[in-house]
Amino acid sequence: MINVAIDGPAGAGKSTVARAAAKELGFIYVDTGALYRAIGLKLIRKGITCEDTAGVEGVLASTELDIRFENGEQVVLLNGTNVNGVIRTEEVGNMASKTSPRQVLRARLVQLQQKLAASEDCVMDGRDIGNAVFPDAELKIFVVASAEIRAQRRYDELKAKGQEASFEEILANVKERDYIDQNREVSPLRQAEDALLLDNSNLTIEEQKQWLAAEFQKAING
Ligand code: DC
Repeated sequence: MINVAIDGPAGAGKSTVARAAAKELGFIYVDTGALYRAIGLKLIRKGITCEDTAGVEGVLASTELDIRFENGEQVVLLNGTNVNGVIRTEEVGNMASKTSPRQVLRARLVQLQQKLAASEDCVMDGRDIGNAVFPDAELKIFVVASAEIRAQRRYDELKAKGQEASFEEILANVKERDYIDQNREVSPLRQAEDALLLDNSNLTIEEQKQWLAAEFQKAING
């Protein structure tokens, strides 16, 4: 099986590159953040805070989490229910970020990710794919863009949807997420030694796709 690992901070555009690459290669695309978000959602619904160790462990023990693919799209199932439509909020993202340092949670989700890729070629994105999930991935990419550019993209996205947004608040949130992701003890966000850096601050999506296709050719065919 061939694995392409795509890591990087929140809002760097990993999913856009990963999705396009998966389509091009005919691989499945796995968005691992959605799994952390699904657990975050359940904690919010149960009123459990990320500091509550017993509460988080209880939720993990009583939760069935799975991924299935429908027309090439990943569907996250939380106790059998599709939660794709409710995990994309800032609230759920922040909860996912705050609970993701927990070892017990990471172990469970990493195992699920590895199981998924055991039978399918895949492009997987997240924070720890190149370092922890697939240390032997055929190709590893670390996607970055400045915090300001990532905040601006998020701001434009919300505005385009007609939602109120404060650039300053979004920028503060981007920086806070970076801090949590980079400073946790277990699997902090780090570029793997053998990962290629893709700084897409000034690149179009088309340019990124071409770059990735060329790197994939080199990695697989030499
Ligand atoms: O990529 P995202 O914004 O959907 O991820 C939400 C949070 O989940 C992110 O802030 C950190 C956590 N996460 C993680 O710790 N490891 C991953 N492989 C993916 C996400």
